[in-house]
Order: sequence, then C-alpha cells, then structure tokens
Amino acid sequence: MGILKDCIKNKRPDSIPIWFMRQAGRYLPEFREIRSRNPDFIKLCLNPELSKEITLQPLKRFAFDAAIIFSDILLIPFALGQEVKFEKNFGPKLGELNLEKLNQITDEVFIKNLKPVHDLLKITAKDKIIRGKDLIGFVGATWTLLVYMLNRKSPKKQSLDINMFNYPDQDFIIDKIIQSQKIHIKGQVENGATIIQIFDSWAGLLEEDKYEKYIYEPTKKIVDYVKTLGVEVICFPRGIKKYAEFCKIINPSAINIDYETDPKKIAEQINIPIQGGIDPKSLLFEEGDMIKEAKKYLDIFKNHQYIFNLGHGILPETSPDNVKALVNFVKDYK
Ligand code: CP3
Repeated sequence: MGILKDCIKNKRPDSIPIWFMRQAGRYLPEFREIRSRNPDFIKLCLNPELSKEITLQPLKRFAFDAAIIFSDILLIPFALGQEVKFEKNFGPKLGELNLEKLNQITDEVFIKNLKPVHDLLKITAKDKIIRGKDLIGFVGATWTLLVYMLNRKSPKKQSLDINMFNYPDQDFIIDKIIQSQKIHIKGQVENGATIIQIFDSWAGLLEEDKYEKYIYEPTKKIVDYVKTLGVEVICFPRGIKKYAEFCKIINPSAINIDYETDPKKIAEQINIPIQGGIDPKSLLFEEGDMIKEAKKYLDIFKNHQYIFNLGHGILPETSPDNVKALVNFVKDYK
C-alpha cells in the first residue's frame, strides 16, 4: 500500500503522489520493442509475464508512486465473446454483438477468459518494485463499454454512429456489463489491486438528461461494490459537465478531472480527493513551459488532497526526458 492511498485517506504524505494514465505505453522505447514482437495486442494483454514487464517499465525509469496494470478496458467485451481487434492508425475494431452468444457466456466462462489478467496482478503485486507503492487495477465504466460494444469502434467527432438509446435489449446488455465489471474487479482486488480506477472515457458524449440512466445509476452500483471489497475507487468521467454533481451522487474515493475542466472551479466546488487535470499536450512543451503548467495545478490544489496525474492518457510522442523532469519536479514540490 502506498502514498496514493495515504493521500486518499487524508494521511498527508510527505510529497504529492504521482502516476500517469497510459504510463505504460508507446512513448517508451522499451514498450515499443516488446510491442513490435507482439503484433496481437489482446494476446499481449493476456500474457502475464510480458504484461508484468510492461507494467513495471515506467517504475524502473521514473519515481512514480503507483503502477497501473498493462491491460485494456476492451478485455471485458473480449471475455464476453465479442471479437476485439486493434488496427494500426485506426484503434479498436469490434465484431458484431451477438445477443444469443452473450447470453450463453456464464460467469465461470467469463472469469476463466480473464484469468491471465488476474495472474498478471498476482505476480506483479509480489515484485519488490511494488513494495510501498499502489497497484492500480481498472475497468471501463458501463457507459463507455456500452459505447464500444454497440458502436464497435471509438466514436468520431464527439458523436456516435448508431442510435444507442433505442438499441434492442439494451437493458439486458447493461446488466451483463455491470455483472462482468463486478467479477473482473473482484478478480483484480483478490490478486493484489489496492485501487480501482473506472474510466468513463465517453461520458462527454451524453446530454445531461441521460446522465442518470447511463452514468449515475450504473457507476453508483460499481463504486458501492468496490467499497465493499475494502479498496479505494477513483472515477474518471471524462468530459462530464457536472463533476461536482457526479461526486455528490457517486461519492468515489477520488475524482480524476479532464484537461478541459477549469481546475479553479473544481477546487472551489469539490472537497473529495482530486486527481489529474494537466493537458497531456503540455508534456510536449519545452521543459520550462511544461513545469509552469504543472505548477499551476499544484498551486491551485495546494490545500486539497491531490494526486498529480494528467487530464487524459500520455501522448505517444511525449519524450521520456520530459516525463522524468516533470515527475522529479512534482516529487520535490513543497
Ligand atoms: O494506463 C496504462 O498504462 C495502462 C494500460 C491501459 C491501456 N488502455 C493500454 C493500451 C489503460 C488504462 C487503457 C484504458 C483504455 N483503453 C481506455 C480508457 C482510457 C482512455 O484512454 O480514454 C480506452 C478508451 C481504451 C480503448 C483503447 N485501447 C483504444 C481507444 C486504443 C487505441 C488508441 C490508443 O490510444 O492507442 C487502445 C490501445 C491501447 N491500450 C494501447 C495501450 C498501450 C496502444 C496499443 C498499441 O497500439 O501499441
């Protein structure tokens, strides 16, 4: 257990806790090297030894306080029997959703399909690099998984290709996703995850009158469930227009904010622990300008329980030297 947990529990760590979304990824040459030998992304995610190595790569280079497992939110649709492929310069491509097939996937089959991810956690949690640090497991939020399963690719230009809201048997699919999320979270916690992050990457696509059904209702169920397992839960409803309302209704252990949200307003409106915010593009600036932007977030959240992170995943073109400089700056910030 590490200082992220301390910060969330208001134990005031000696320094600001820090980790980055997508910290295990394409900006690291050592990741690209493994990836070039493993063209099948899903297969790589289901290889516990290689996934462990990728999970630990950023901790070997930088003074991060947590590791996030190398995996993907789309392993849930995969384990539910939907085809999931990743194409270069396109992103994820999912197969047709077959409701009959979905109905036939039992909890036992689902958990067996994700066993390699749970094995990855088990062997990673034991590694000495993790000692004193947090190990973060994750799932996609129900809405974001529904988007991928029905839209079958990332939505473009902030809009969906299909009419999600009139999709046949939508409530059956939503219930199946929630059940799968719970099983996958339990497997991660039982094998060593000390924190669970819920990525609702497409929350920003919804009109506010749809928040109740597609964000609040399912997310509350998942967050309450994670709490019964005794670990912390961080929510990232990216692009939501009502972070304060979200926190009031959902009450997660911490909230990750996106880079388009005004941090000053957040600091005024929200008093639960806050994570993230800085635009990942700031890490492409020259070092001095990047540090100035980071200092802005640190100063705004000086009197808050704050975990330094980004307002979305780190960009593949980010230089590892800049990451090193930024992490060291945050760790020395008083
Ligand atoms: O943060 C980490 O370092 C842990 C690993 C992680 C990955 N995906 C690895 C990955 C995490 C936490 C995710 C979450 C994820 N996956 C989200 C939610 C966060 C977000 O970015 O909004 C989403 C929407 C996905 C789905 C997904 N996976 C997309 C859209 C893509 C392609 C586009 C992209 O950003 O690369 C992926 C592929 C993916 N997942 C890669 C990695 C390292 C790139 C794989 C490669 O091409 O080498």
